[in-house]
Amino acid sequence: MRVRSCRVNHMDEPLGFYLGEATFSWVVDDEGWVARGRIESRLVVRSEAGAVCDTGWAELDCAATRPGLALLPRTRYTWQVSVRDEAGHVAEGGEHSFETGKMGEPWQAAWLCCDEADGRHPTLARTITTRPGAPLAAARAYVCGLGLYEVEVDGRLASTEHLAPGTCAYDKWLQVATIDLTGALAAPGEHDLRVTLGDGWYKGRFGFIPTRGGYYGDDWSLIAEVHLTYADGTHEVVATDESWQVGRSNVTFSNIYDGERVDATLPAVAPEPARPLDPEEAAARTARLCDRLSPVVSEHELFSPTLIETPAGEKVLDLGQNIAGGFRMRVHEPAGATVRLQFGEVLQEGNFYHDNLRSAEAAYTFVSDGEPHVLRPRFTYYGYRYVKVEGVRNLRPSDFEGVAWYSDIDTGAGRMRTANPLVNRLVENTRWGMRDNFVDTPTDCPQRDERMGWTGDAQIFSPTACYLGKPYAFFHKYLHDMALEQRALGGAMPMVVPSFGVVGAGSVWGDATVVIPWNLYLFSGDDAVLREHWGAMRAWMDHVAALDGDDHGWPSAAAHLGDWLALDSRPGKDERFGATDEGFVAYVAYLQSARIMARAAAVLGEGADKARFEALAEALLSWIRSEYFSPNGRCCIDTQTAHALTIVHGLADARRAGRALHDLVQAMGGQLTCGFVGTPVICEALCRTGYERDAYQLLLRERQPGWLNPVIQGATTIWERWDSLDEDGRITGTSMNSLNHYAYGSICAWLFGWAAGLRPDAAAPGFALATVAPHVDWRLGELEATYESAHGTWRVAWSVSGERSVHLELVVPLGCTARVRLPHAPGGAARTLAASGGVTVEVTTGDAAGEAVVELPHGSYAVDYEATIALRHALSLDSPLADVLESSAAVAAIEGIVPHLHLTITPMELHATPLRDLPWQDLCHRPLSAEQQRAIEAALEGLSDRRYGEED
Ligand code: BGC
Repeated sequence: MRVRSCRVNHMDEPLGFYLGEATFSWVVDDEGWVARGRIESRLVVRSEAGAVCDTGWAELDCAATRPGLALLPRTRYTWQVSVRDEAGHVAEGGEHSFETGKMGEPWQAAWLCCDEADGRHPTLARTITTRPGAPLAAARAYVCGLGLYEVEVDGRLASTEHLAPGTCAYDKWLQVATIDLTGALAAPGEHDLRVTLGDGWYKGRFGFIPTRGGYYGDDWSLIAEVHLTYADGTHEVVATDESWQVGRSNVTFSNIYDGERVDATLPAVAPEPARPLDPEEAAARTARLCDRLSPVVSEHELFSPTLIETPAGEKVLDLGQNIAGGFRMRVHEPAGATVRLQFGEVLQEGNFYHDNLRSAEAAYTFVSDGEPHVLRPRFTYYGYRYVKVEGVRNLRPSDFEGVAWYSDIDTGAGRMRTANPLVNRLVENTRWGMRDNFVDTPTDCPQRDERMGWTGDAQIFSPTACYLGKPYAFFHKYLHDMALEQRALGGAMPMVVPSFGVVGAGSVWGDATVVIPWNLYLFSGDDAVLREHWGAMRAWMDHVAALDGDDHGWPSAAAHLGDWLALDSRPGKDERFGATDEGFVAYVAYLQSARIMARAAAVLGEGADKARFEALAEALLSWIRSEYFSPNGRCCIDTQTAHALTIVHGLADARRAGRALHDLVQAMGGQLTCGFVGTPVICEALCRTGYERDAYQLLLRERQPGWLNPVIQGATTIWERWDSLDEDGRITGTSMNSLNHYAYGSICAWLFGWAAGLRPDAAAPGFALATVAPHVDWRLGELEATYESAHGTWRVAWSVSGERSVHLELVVPLGCTARVRLPHAPGGAARTLAASGGVTVEVTTGDAAGEAVVELPHGSYAVDYEATIALRHALSLDSPLADVLESSAAVAAIEGIVPHLHLTITPMELHATPLRDLPWQDLCHRPLSAEQQRAIEAALEGLSDRRYGEED
């Protein structure tokens, strides 16, 4: 056994974070399958003063143990977990640490501010002298600077963090970071401490509302305390006060959208004494200071570019990956020369392009003083793959390095490999979409003049984020902002969090406040997020209830965005809303939230709320049925999204809705038309109703609209629109067209949850109990998914060979249970699963669909069987036209047999029609003769489902 992934509040070794009631979690691996019987753990927490907690041996919850520590401010704790089983195996976790911040203790420091001075960004500085004699045991800086700040000691950056203090609702709270300066100040003597301030989200141009400075403020200010502790126990505090000096840096301009300008030729100016902030304002700001929640935004992957000379004669660097972040570039240009970099996501006709960034300049300008420099942005970030470089005489790609910045969370918890490299790349593109948009706040995109925390996008993506990574701490900060904003709005939700003034969220976007905490709970097994956010969740429900009133006013009471960006829009409405009635979408989201509330209330032991929300859900369901369904249960809104929602939310007879959805998908030739609301659920809806082939047809479609078309076009992230670029690679518009929007990456939740079939179960969240119900597909061929759950590593792998042979492997981690459905395996008959340690498991039960179902404890399993149905489909005259069109060999053969036929341009409505029943008279001016029928049958024989890379 092995203990690993030891975390506090879901973070590795957190320093200076707000911890509330500290939550400990760890994972116990049992790769040798030695563990026997009950597992007991023992958690010991120590401070310098000695043990502050020892749980003794007990059955602790490894996903979330809260020993109820009374934490002290500015204190470092170490902790260790040991684990044992009944057979006497013992495993010791390593020693880990965490440290508290100021925890609300009074500040000795004063807020300092400074003048604009032509925009030259200020550097506030003072000398710190560390005493000789006793060695320095610890030095910590507690800092908040507005808009952004960078701390340097003796000319070196003191922290690996970028864009501190991050973005938040600055009018409601300000985050304090703790920086470890022990190493930097270790040598006794004088040290130069400087803090340079930038504009950032707070003071720079940001958001939709034009303001003089930024939306939240228009001044630079700083508060900082450096606490020095010597080995002899003495303690000293150096705080911001009037002894600090204000100098000027060479940064002359910065903001998030437009970039940064640096002029190295500017003369040094004599420092002036720093000014204290107006006392009233200072007191107000101090009252808003809190220990941080934002995980650190730091440097991750590095990229070496290639150099492109474009047809227009530009020099463009290509990272090969669309990232969010910064760069490092070595330059040595003559004094007065200007180096200018511009950042973009895509080339057009081989040339640099960035019109889809709209008004965001996304540039970096440097005026040289003739000396060598390493350029790097300090107070901005870019969403980019390409960099146009001007003003460098001898540009060498090796002088440039792209640097991905994103919040320090695990983005590799879920891994997937299939036999189709395009699908594999789709998963990685989604992972990049997550990294690029997890820069402190979950943003819609990282490049254009938006980059905001749109709540709907975050909600839609949250299950995928939970499969791909460990976003608990990241979303926890977002939810904190959300709750503060929501409180100020009396329960209403902003569309964007932090709001930057964009309030008035309708359905789906507003429902983020309910859905995100629930998803975090389900995946992490930690209910703290529900308890902390419960008030906000209820406030949203009360807000919607008030607007809905007694006369079902919710659809007209808010700005609902419908099935945002769906392709089936109808004339007469905003084309971005799609065809699915906004009221219907709004009520389904309300119903979903009511059901979550009832379940969350049960978790929290809020019995009255449970009953209340169950009743609300029932009332909403019956209203939805009476308003949007015929008395016989036919959904009156005939769109893919409406039928998909009907199925996944159980609004009416699923079989009927499944048939309607299948018909619509096939009538479109195997294409989806869904937007933000339908896309995350359409494949699930198809699987739930027995149309898994349709789900895979959508997944594997290589033309537009479909997930793989961007991959084929070389995309390295997820596009905002199905056709952000047309099939020839031309950008289709500039008004709202990002190539790095993660919403459609929500297919990954289906890939893990339905294709691999691994889903958490609320009965034992955090994957202590999981469903394993894979949906196999001959065309995809094979799939392997691993997922680092709160309880250990799950693995599901399947492959399909021959016509119907299925091979399935499963690893269930220690302490977990899998509820397994073997896809298309005959129920009733005994089936043997070979398990770890020579154990075999007999599967003898069947579910309603007659498939084999079994519950398995921790172990490693494998099974081979013949499916009850043919998994490889052959083409024949009975195949729908859509299936035939997928095979270019079949199309060529049929067109060779039937003169004047152009199958590929047959109207879309015919795509669901079997070949035999096509209106041949209309298509080729005469009916199909018996001889032609026989010839087609013969030509199609042997042609069947194909896999990636297989020729017809
Ligand atoms: C954003 C979207 C967002 C939408 C809602 C857009 O500009 O980029 O992703 O959800 O607005 O209005």
